[in-house]
Amino acid sequence: MPPSRMPPTPVLHTPRLVLRPVRSKDAPVIQRRFPQWEVVRWLNAGIPWPYPADGASTYVATCLEEMARGEKSHWAIVPRKGPADLIGIIDLWPDDGVSRDQRGFWLDPAFHGQGLMTEAADRVTDYAFRQLGWPCLWLSNAQENRASRRIKEKQGAQLVDIMIGRYVGGEASQMVWQLMREDWIGRQAA
Ligand SMILES: CC(C)(COP(=O)(O)OP(=O)(O)OC[C@H]1O[C@@H](n2cnc3c(N)ncnc32)[C@H](O)[C@@H]1OP(=O)(O)O)[C@@H](O)C(=O)NCCC(=O)NCCS
Repeated sequence: MPPSRMPPTPVLHTPRLVLRPVRSKDAPVIQRRFPQWEVVRWLNAGIPWPYPADGASTYVATCLEEMARGEKSHWAIVPRKGPADLIGIIDLWPDDGVSRDQRGFWLDPAFHGQGLMTEAADRVTDYAFRQLGWPCLWLSNAQENRASRRIKEKQGAQLVDIMIGRYVGGEASQMVWQLMREDWIGRQAA
């Protein structure tokens, strides 16, 4: 079954953040904030490392193509108060029936530990379930990636598998989770 096509990426709001589609002007700030070991260590091994000088511009060009084709949504995470430029990225894409992963995120370490990604992930998850009407979300993280793992736990995702994943930092245990729409809506209502 081919994955469904995504609509144009909307601007989403949370109490402290604006999530807006990535744009070509974002490349310099991504090039500045992204290539840090703490950020990339548990990201997919497909990310070039050491990060090349044109890494962010290549990445942004891919984001724009994927959004134009309706394959993925890529949001820049911009604080309502603080720097006017992005401090991280969150992505969402339809289930392709194979990869068991539909959401990615990273935040500049200068902004870690304030609950900001929990806020962004909750908003994007709500968009997937309520606006897009998806029945479930596949999620994944390296077992050692405690912060990412904790976000899944807090969202009520169920651990369904542990396998070997390939990360920038090497091979490691990869946790695979499923978050069901009914569970999400039920938790929000409770
Ligand atoms: C994952 C990431 C986005 C989390 O961002 P963040 O804004 O700091 O996360 P939050 O502040 O919303 O916190 C998430 C939870 O993880 C917990 N946490 C954070 N670091 C932790 C650690 N080392 N051990 C255990 N729990 C940890 C927090 O306490 C919080 O849980 P709580 O609300 O129960 O206290 C950030 O660490 C990051 O950018 N990492 C690098 C990129 C990455 O790994 N992305 C995910 C790939 S799957």
